[in-house]
Amino acid sequence: MARILTGIQSSGRPHLGNILGAIKPAIELSKNPQNESFFFIADLHSLTTLKNGVERAEYVRAIAATWLAFGFDYQKNVFWRQSRVQEHTELSWYLNCFTPFPMLANATSFKDKSEKLADVNAGLFTYPVLQAADILLYNANIIPVGKDQKQHLEMSKDIAHRFNILAGEDILVLPEPQIDERIMTIPGLDGQKMSKSYHNYIDIFLPENELKKITKKILSDSKQLEEPKDPDNDITFQLYSLVASQAEVETMRQNYLNGGYGYGHAKQALFECFLEVFAEPRRIFNYYMENTEELEGILVEGEAKAREIAQDTIGKVRKVLGFSS
Ligand code: TRP
Repeated sequence: MARILTGIQSSGRPHLGNILGAIKPAIELSKNPQNESFFFIADLHSLTTLKNGVERAEYVRAIAATWLAFGFDYQKNVFWRQSRVQEHTELSWYLNCFTPFPMLANATSFKDKSEKLADVNAGLFTYPVLQAADILLYNANIIPVGKDQKQHLEMSKDIAHRFNILAGEDILVLPEPQIDERIMTIPGLDGQKMSKSYHNYIDIFLPENELKKITKKILSDSKQLEEPKDPDNDITFQLYSLVASQAEVETMRQNYLNGGYGYGHAKQALFECFLEVFAEPRRIFNYYMENTEELEGILVEGEAKAREIAQDTIGKVRKVLGFSS
């Protein structure tokens, strides 16, 4: 039995890139009966960049609703908000004291963020330690993440190892990242990686007319309607290939190559495909966004399960450190 764990920061509403690149693949893994999945909302991590509490609460709900909308089985697995299980912050402090300063100073994600952001706070610096606490609290074995998280995972392992040396026994389980190289980067409206920070994302939960408007904004070249087009170098086609059926993709490819088919047609087809493919997730998402008490109940239930495991680990750690007898 493998224990899979992953978290998503609540720094925005989940977009198509998050859904295809992280949420759907993680849910697929969770369907394997051999696996036990621990999925959480990293709302404490979002505080490093987002200070507005009203926005954060809204994004937390949207992320929770998205996991549910794509069929995550919260009863079989564990699903919670990081901030509601206080052991995350407690373990994070202990682990801070096992983390060499240069290790954090050399983290590429910290270097990137400190170049880009106006607010370079200490939370950004110790971000990987909180992430290590997230993972180590639950004895997780497999962490499905994107390539950009590889270094953070190595740090988690390194920190756990340092703690175990002090303890003289393997109290913390060393996690393994699972980086799926097959998962391509999802292109955004402008062809760069789809990301909230590039403002090029598609929110598939928007009302129909707004979703249509966004789809029309996808960048394309200036070829005229009659001209043949190159499907492999077009963003609309790439996005369509990620959501449509094989047969539909093949038809669109032929349309591009034949000419007489404009980018406007392709964008309309993509929009319609979004509506069709995501009809059920859109319905469930809206349901939970309207029935927030029900959503809250699901999270609270998950938090009780998470807390039980977290308390067990923190009990062992406290003992080693002389904070309890
Ligand atoms: N840093 C991760 C990201 O931005 C989010 C995250 C926080 C996470 N804690 C985690 C991912 C623990 C995996 C495991 O994508």
